[in-house]
Amino acid sequence: MRMYDIIEKKRDGGELTEAEIRFFVEGYTKEDIPDYQVSALLMAIYYQGMTPEECATLTSAMVDSGDKIDLSAISGIKVDKHSTGGVGDTTTLVLAPLVASLGVPVAKMSGRGLGHTGGTIDKLEAIPGFHVELTGDEFIELVNKNKVAVVGQTGNLTPADKKLYSLRDVTATVDSIPLIASSIMSKKIASGADAIVLDVKTGAGAFMKDLADAKELAHQMVSIGNHVGRKTMAVISDMSQPLGRAIGNALEVQEAIETLKGNGPTDLTELCFTLGSQMVVLANKADNLDDARLKLKESIQTGKALAQFKTFIASQGGDASVVDDPTLLPAAAQKIELKAKNSGTIQSIIADDIGTAAMMLGAGRATKESDIDLAVGLVLHKKVGDSVKAGETLVTIHANQEQIDEVKEKLYTSITIAEHPAKAPSLIYDMITE
Ligand code: URA
Ligand code: CA
Repeated sequence: MRMYDIIEKKRDGGELTEAEIRFFVEGYTKEDIPDYQVSALLMAIYYQGMTPEECATLTSAMVDSGDKIDLSAISGIKVDKHSTGGVGDTTTLVLAPLVASLGVPVAKMSGRGLGHTGGTIDKLEAIPGFHVELTGDEFIELVNKNKVAVVGQTGNLTPADKKLYSLRDVTATVDSIPLIASSIMSKKIASGADAIVLDVKTGAGAFMKDLADAKELAHQMVSIGNHVGRKTMAVISDMSQPLGRAIGNALEVQEAIETLKGNGPTDLTELCFTLGSQMVVLANKADNLDDARLKLKESIQTGKALAQFKTFIASQGGDASVVDDPTLLPAAAQKIELKAKNSGTIQSIIADDIGTAAMMLGAGRATKESDIDLAVGLVLHKKVGDSVKAGETLVTIHANQEQIDEVKEKLYTSITIAEHPAKAPSLIYDMITE
């Protein structure tokens, strides 16, 4: 087999066979095939696309390029939730204990990563003592005992995806929906879940800014999952404004606690019920979505979900008393209120600009090497559609730095107030099951 022929076939719109796809993925991982040929193929894929079969094969080939996590020692159906990423997305912190409280095993492998705030692990590490350094055996034991554990990335998962992603990054081929879908799904599948619930975000703060693109990505990911025998569904949710009110690591832990107590922001709570009921049904812990939702609500009302969160924190070395006393979480030196300059209705709160403002405070990492400040961030007092009077607080800025004029400026330009009314955006745009 020759790489030249594979490039030519895709360039001319042909469908690659399993053997051809495995040849280039394996060859590239072993560095037998040079970057320039793979670059040419990626560009051909960018223009010609891939069929559902090609996408599923590419995904499997990337999964097979490295280690696979074996969760078979955990009893029950393991359902993973994946979000394509947004600003102030606190759902994992709420969902993990919430669905675990109904007996759904949550075996979460998570990362730190780059972004406006830290990843799930960074957020959890805002809890004093909490750690994610577990051996594989400890991880499995904890999930069997408590139904929930979170571990840092271990093993050499999907090395082919790592190499291909880096190459796409420098060859203008990241924005290809089949390549994005295969990349994300390869990591989920290698992590061992039996079923996958995807939260595909759309809007200013999302990777997929456009609703039609988000739907297409969701369709392709669901198709890949189902092709390789993992039940997969996707929810398309709004990320035009940040989710909930808190953006920042310790602030989001506090928001998660409030949500588990039943006092969370409406949008975050609703998204957790929507995603959570899908997870519960996929795990066979409820007959249908309505039943699942009732059970989730009940778990919050009775305090079962909150108790589950405490157990989870304590089992990984964390101080569970933060749940009753959030002042034990890291706090920023200053709390500054950003006041509205005029009265009216909030028209928009541009999610990615708010994320940038949080990053400027130190809540996220700009590069892999940068440190993050777990205490800092933003709390929104108003959301789109709310009315506001001049002088009222729009945002509380939690800062450890003296100079925050630029942050304030960024926030003022990302929040638009006008006299005419405005409606809050829909939270859920679509659900995709095939
Ligand atoms: N995130 C991924 O993991 N892969 C992509 O290709 C794009 C976003
Ligand atoms: Ca939030």
